[in-house]
Amino acid sequence: MKHLIYLDYNATTPIAPEVADEMLPYIQAHFGNPSSGYAIGRHNKEAIEKARMQVANLIGATPEEIIFTSGGTESNNHAIRGAVFANQQKGTHIITSAVEHPAVTEVCYYLEKQGYEITWLPVDSFGKVNLADVKKAVRPDTALISIMHANNEVGTIQPIKEIGEIAKTHGVLFHTDAAQSVGKIETNVNKLNVDLLSIAGHKLYAPKGIGSLYIRKGVKFENLIFGAGQERGLRPGTENVPYVVALGKACELAKENLEKNNRHLFQMRQLLLEGLKEKCQTTVKVNADLDNCLPNTLSIAFDGVDAHTLASFVGSGVSFSTGSACHADSVEISPVLNAMNTDRKTAAGTVRISTGKYTTEKEIDHAVEAISTAVNQLSLSK
Ligand SMILES: Cc1ncc(COP(=O)(O)O)c(C=O)c1O
Repeated sequence: MKHLIYLDYNATTPIAPEVADEMLPYIQAHFGNPSSGYAIGRHNKEAIEKARMQVANLIGATPEEIIFTSGGTESNNHAIRGAVFANQQKGTHIITSAVEHPAVTEVCYYLEKQGYEITWLPVDSFGKVNLADVKKAVRPDTALISIMHANNEVGTIQPIKEIGEIAKTHGVLFHTDAAQSVGKIETNVNKLNVDLLSIAGHKLYAPKGIGSLYIRKGVKFENLIFGAGQERGLRPGTENVPYVVALGKACELAKENLEKNNRHLFQMRQLLLEGLKEKCQTTVKVNADLDNCLPNTLSIAFDGVDAHTLASFVGSGVSFSTGSACHADSVEISPVLNAMNTDRKTAAGTVRISTGKYTTEKEIDHAVEAISTAVNQLSLSK
């Protein structure tokens, strides 16, 4: 197989070798049920508690504030529903933004059908919410604000700390979906002023199907599912020990290497952008303010070039995402680009390229060559 240049780390990441090494014994030898009182059970219980500490350490929480989930989607579902159901006396109004992941928007649509009222905050042309809009939206019956830390498509970072201050002032719970930011930029729950924070393991070199939810001590919270007493009764079910161990290790590595990785992701992204700007003979438009963006994310459009055609021209050698979905005879623009008021042509031409800790300069050189060659052929043939 030809060497694949993988530049879609926002979609998912490979499992880090150190993470795989750590989880392997728990797939094979250490099979005990963590709730069993004898040695092989107790060993696994300890492994879970070590992982809980590793997750907590990465985000500045205490281990009691961490529960393990199946990933970002479950964490977001649980955060929003668990918080509003437990705090119904506060009211049934929720504030969120127009650029959230479906794991938040779909929960809000569901709650809307149950009688909740949702305020969808608009964003500017870079996908950022306005603090004045947040302040204006808060009402006495607002039960929850849920705004993502960083956007998965364009990388824009939201002013979470400041939104958290507004939430605190008004006694409103505040959740952030940090699936894309954890491991790439600092995500300290106290500095960010959040009450609930979602983590998705497969975005930080742990396997798919594991995640975590931070629930600040003292927050009134309800179950999503019911069963025995695991995870303080909040997320019952026999724990997925190998994956929990994997997430713990991934968080430990992320903490140890945060600055180094951040710098590397940024350098690779910049190299890519500079290369594309230099070699593409058409206008290159970046859909974000790169000074307020995840270090690894580049949402970019090439004038006169359709993203799907570009992806098929570049072929399977370089992996990246497109900002639109292609149906039989129409192109559906992503809700995020729509909310940013991106014009249709730019949106249809938008690709998301995201670097990772394993991205090399050589890969970037090849990707620039492949993408710019395709862009130049396609824009000239227009
Ligand atoms: C911002 C954001 N939230 C939530 C999710 C969902 O996470 P998971 O795939 O672990 O369910 C993703 C994954 O794409 C994401 O990017």
